Amino acid sequence: MMKIAVAGTGYVGLVAGVCFAEKGYQVMCVDIDEKKVEMMRQGISPIYEEGLEELMQKNNARGTLHFTTDYVEAYRDADAIFIGVGTPEMPDGSANLSYIATVSRQIAETVEKDCLVVVKSTVPVGTNDKVEQFIRDFLVHDVKVEVASNPEFLAQGTAVHDTLHAARIIIGTQSREAEETLKRIYEPFGLPIVSVKRRSAEMIKYACNDFLALKISYMNDIANLCELVGADITDVARGMSYDERIGARFLNAGIGFGGSCFPKDTKALKFLAREHGYQLKTVEACVDVNSAQKTRLFEKARERMITFSGLKAAVLGLTFKSGTDDLREAPSIDNLKLLLAAGASVYAFDPKGQERAKELFPQGKHPGGGTMNYVSSATEALEGAHICFVFTEWPQIREVAPGTFKEKMHTPLVYDGRNLYQPAQMKAAGVEYYSIGR
Ligand code: UDX
Repeated sequence: MMKIAVAGTGYVGLVAGVCFAEKGYQVMCVDIDEKKVEMMRQGISPIYEEGLEELMQKNNARGTLHFTTDYVEAYRDADAIFIGVGTPEMPDGSANLSYIATVSRQIAETVEKDCLVVVKSTVPVGTNDKVEQFIRDFLVHDVKVEVASNPEFLAQGTAVHDTLHAARIIIGTQSREAEETLKRIYEPFGLPIVSVKRRSAEMIKYACNDFLALKISYMNDIANLCELVGADITDVARGMSYDERIGARFLNAGIGFGGSCFPKDTKALKFLAREHGYQLKTVEACVDVNSAQKTRLFEKARERMITFSGLKAAVLGLTFKSGTDDLREAPSIDNLKLLLAAGASVYAFDPKGQERAKELFPQGKHPGGGTMNYVSSATEALEGAHICFVFTEWPQIREVAPGTFKEKMHTPLVYDGRNLYQPAQMKAAGVEYYSIGR
């Protein structure tokens, strides 16, 4: 059986490692964080992801899954090394490749047998060529190393499912040998494989993410126009969804997209285009629409209120979407900053995101006069509130009945960034209700 090493145990690396182990490979996952590695050895996942801990524990126990901080041990005799480290956004919007470079150097200095290095991280087109050259430049032993691109399409919250049942596996290689190796690795998954050249594979990843992001920004743009012309975006989306050329998914207008991929990958592609002297106008528009969308509801509320100072604001949902504890680029962040700076007493509820939110917005007083409080249910947040914002579509929030807003809040005024409720029902319950595009 092939030996697989995985560099980085974030969403991409950890889920890939666990799923390879599940398919019976000997997998060694490498991370620099001692504490995290120790946790993972005990079967505790550093991220909340449905089904992940079960698979970790199962494969830890049957000896297919290992965690280490010692990259030499992991890379030395691996048949394939998957790189799944982060490529965070730089201040100018470009992708930071320093983690990729560090891992490449470590690989070059430790591999003692021929191996395939597979880049799973999202990287600008052309990076795999550089990674291959870099590794070859620094190789210590006389071995053959090739680099392949194998972008990851998992969505947070459904990461394990998305990996085991992916719509397709994209592999980008420059040689028949590398192509065969990757095809063999993925054979037990039984999924459709699209085999292309390396640069095309790198581009497929950005083209997919940015297309989906564009779809969302387009719907948000249309939603804003719907408000002005008296149409309802949820009805419009329903009407559109029957056209198979458009597709029924990712048509939900709302408070804008967040997360670790769309915001970063739209900016990175825009940057890549500019670097090549091209202006990617559609993607640039998508970024602009999204940044304005995130605070549209707050702006609406600001027009309605004299002040937020001294008001109790219920905030329902903090994570960038439901099913995850991730707050990266979440619209809630932009809005909490504004609310706290405007002096509001915020009472926030999120079923999974509160721990991470506390790191960004500690409990207590904030500059500008606002205070941050965390509560353990939606109804508790609503108790005596003067205004309520909905930022995430959690089921625990969706199930709050219109009457509960009226009953619990001091003034039933709701700004819903996820269109969770029917305007007519809210009105009938006596709630002043604002949502997106209706
Ligand atoms: C995304 C891609 O789906 C995945 O293929 C890629 O590998 C990584 O990026 P993820 O960021 O986990 O995954 O979440 P996703 O479910 O795609 O949602 C991204 C953002 O768009 C969220 O903030 C979500 O709330 C928002 N969104 C999504 C909408 O506003 N409307 C929609 O219709 C769909």
